[in-house]
Amino acid sequence: DIPSFTLNTGAKIPSVGMGCWQGQPGAGKDNELVDALVKAINVGYRHLDTATGYANEREVGEAIRKSGVPRSDIFLTTKLRPGGVNDPVKEFEESFNKLDVEYIDLWLLHWPQGFTSSEGNFGGGDVCGLEHQKHLGPTFNETWAKMEDIFLNSHKGKVKAIGVSNFSIKNLEILLQTAKVVPAVNQIEQSPLLPEHKLNEYCKQKGIHITAYSPLGQMSSAVHDDETLNEIAKKHDVTAATVALSWAVQKGTSVAPKSTNEKRMKQNITLIKLSDEEMKQVDHISDDPKKHTRLNYLVFDKDTHKILGWTMEEMG
Ligand code: A2P
Repeated sequence: DIPSFTLNTGAKIPSVGMGCWQGQPGAGKDNELVDALVKAINVGYRHLDTATGYANEREVGEAIRKSGVPRSDIFLTTKLRPGGVNDPVKEFEESFNKLDVEYIDLWLLHWPQGFTSSEGNFGGGDVCGLEHQKHLGPTFNETWAKMEDIFLNSHKGKVKAIGVSNFSIKNLEILLQTAKVVPAVNQIEQSPLLPEHKLNEYCKQKGIHITAYSPLGQMSSAVHDDETLNEIAKKHDVTAATVALSWAVQKGTSVAPKSTNEKRMKQNITLIKLSDEEMKQVDHISDDPKKHTRLNYLVFDKDTHKILGWTMEEMG
């Protein structure tokens, strides 16, 4: 069995989950995705991490039903897409109907900004964006209040926990000024090349569990090729990927690596115990600025609020 962590709701989240964005429509992979996820469940995965923005909730729900594993044995995460922040109730109901399950374990606000319905752009200007969000649509505080109402009142029992994703310390500080419910989870990009030490410390203090997405660095080979990770891997007769995932889980974060390959799926749920010294070595890999790697963050023009592109900079 995959060990789990306890959320601030008392629910348990498996330490290793399966990231689900590899099956977006357009890639012609819908059935492949269902098959891959059934395979993942069969080899032992009990957390599936999807999002409305991945456009595959139907397939994820189908895989759960097809696997034959009871719904209650699986932890299911989905996310409120940035385009849906003007009507979270409608978005929740659509997710719920597409997934076609009795309940969702965790519903995350996907980004600290929302697209406006009129412009199709992110509603936040800068990283925390409160001033900018006022121009363009609901602030994330307002969206969170609606998510809280869905969780606590209108759809009570249909969603077991709510949380956020891609939130920096600054974002969380602003959110917590008005939040009635402390997010159960902040799902962030995190790997040995982006350890987010300060954000981890902050979330720990607040009782917010971190789930790491892209814990292996996505399509980049930087994690797999890293010298320190490979040195440690050699000693334990495992791969750099196993060291990266073991490090994350050992420091208390759950991980959602993606794989459609059965051998690597199995490898990624078979973790090892690192020594204190090895943990420290991994903690310090990104002290070298050349190693520091962020793959997934949007920047916005402060005046026009348009998306400028992707950056590798630290979150604010
Ligand atoms: P594949 O599906 O062929 O296994 P991340 O989770 O950081 O986004 O990384 C996902 C990428 O890493 C996918 O391309 C996946 O390819 C690959 N991958 C997943 N697990 C491993 C592993 N244990 N070793 C090497 N590559 C892996």
